[in-house]
Amino acid sequence: MEYDFVNVCREELRLCGVHEGEPVAILSADTPDELLGHAAAFMQAAKELGALPYHVRVPANRGTGSGGWEVGTTPLTGHPAAMAALKEAALVIDLVFMLFSKEQLEIQAHGTRILLAVEPTDVLSRLLPDRQLRERVEFAGDVLAKAESLRIEHENGTRLTYRLGRYPVITEYGYTDEPGRWDHWPSGFIFTGAYDDGVDGTMVLAPGSIIYPFKSYVRTPITLRIEAGKIVDISGELDAALMRDYMDQFRDPDGYAISHIGWGLNEKARWSGPTMDTRGIGQEGRSFYGNVLFATGPNQELGGKNASPCHMDIPLHGYSLYLDDRQIVERGDLVVPEMRPRS
Ligand SMILES: [Fe+2]
Repeated sequence: MEYDFVNVCREELRLCGVHEGEPVAILSADTPDELLGHAAAFMQAAKELGALPYHVRVPANRGTGSGGWEVGTTPLTGHPAAMAALKEAALVIDLVFMLFSKEQLEIQAHGTRILLAVEPTDVLSRLLPDRQLRERVEFAGDVLAKAESLRIEHENGTRLTYRLGRYPVITEYGYTDEPGRWDHWPSGFIFTGAYDDGVDGTMVLAPGSIIYPFKSYVRTPITLRIEAGKIVDISGELDAALMRDYMDQFRDPDGYAISHIGWGLNEKARWSGPTMDTRGIGQEGRSFYGNVLFATGPNQELGGKNASPCHMDIPLHGYSLYLDDRQIVERGDLVVPEMRPRS
């Protein structure tokens, strides 16, 4: 066991408000990766805080098999006994990626808080959150919640508008101490979604934009024409062809919908992070300060009906964002003092 990482997990669990006698479930799947080390560290850390940790380990795949990176189906699908064990916990440490699943919502509805933590231990340690990040993220979330429209601009021809008000704002600051609340360590951003038919305009993905799940940077501009919340045309050179080919394989019209929209506030996370490190699922690239986080596909995590397995997160570097014509992000820099890091 990595004892330094146990210390980091203890700090994280303290931020999550874990206290003596509290049941803490650690959920893992039988994949041959390093996450058993995560499970052991969380177990030890919770024990040191006097909590009551237990480990729920389930098969990663019970014969359903799937291609590509799909969201929505989890090792808990059709596994009521494991679900019952997780609902008994005050906090679930999710090492299997339940995000976008019915099971996650069901566990949250029970009042159980959930912390997703699947990045490598050194990334988690470097991006350990703090209360100041929470304050800045929550401030940004309050501002976003009051907006009726959002606009993204870039001198490359991007001008995309979102009609807001249909869906809630989700904050992610990397820990959770409120009943039923989900968070993801590490993170540091906020997002919401437009009305399902409420996104229109042109999005030009500039070189340097990061595409997840590809974990790669755009090299040739990709132009997306968007009408009534759906991508109706993808044009450009190599990167556009790759994006089209990836999306086409799902044969799912809902995969072309516009998903969540927001911006990053974490100054510890680096835009260049994925140039050197493509382990994990890329939370560093999604969180970096001043990125506009554009996404396509499902919106059920916001309470919407789109459950497409084709989901792309695309952090944009150097873009501007406006809420009801008030500028929030100027070419990758936050212009609202309360959202900027305090020195
Ligand atoms: Fe996403």
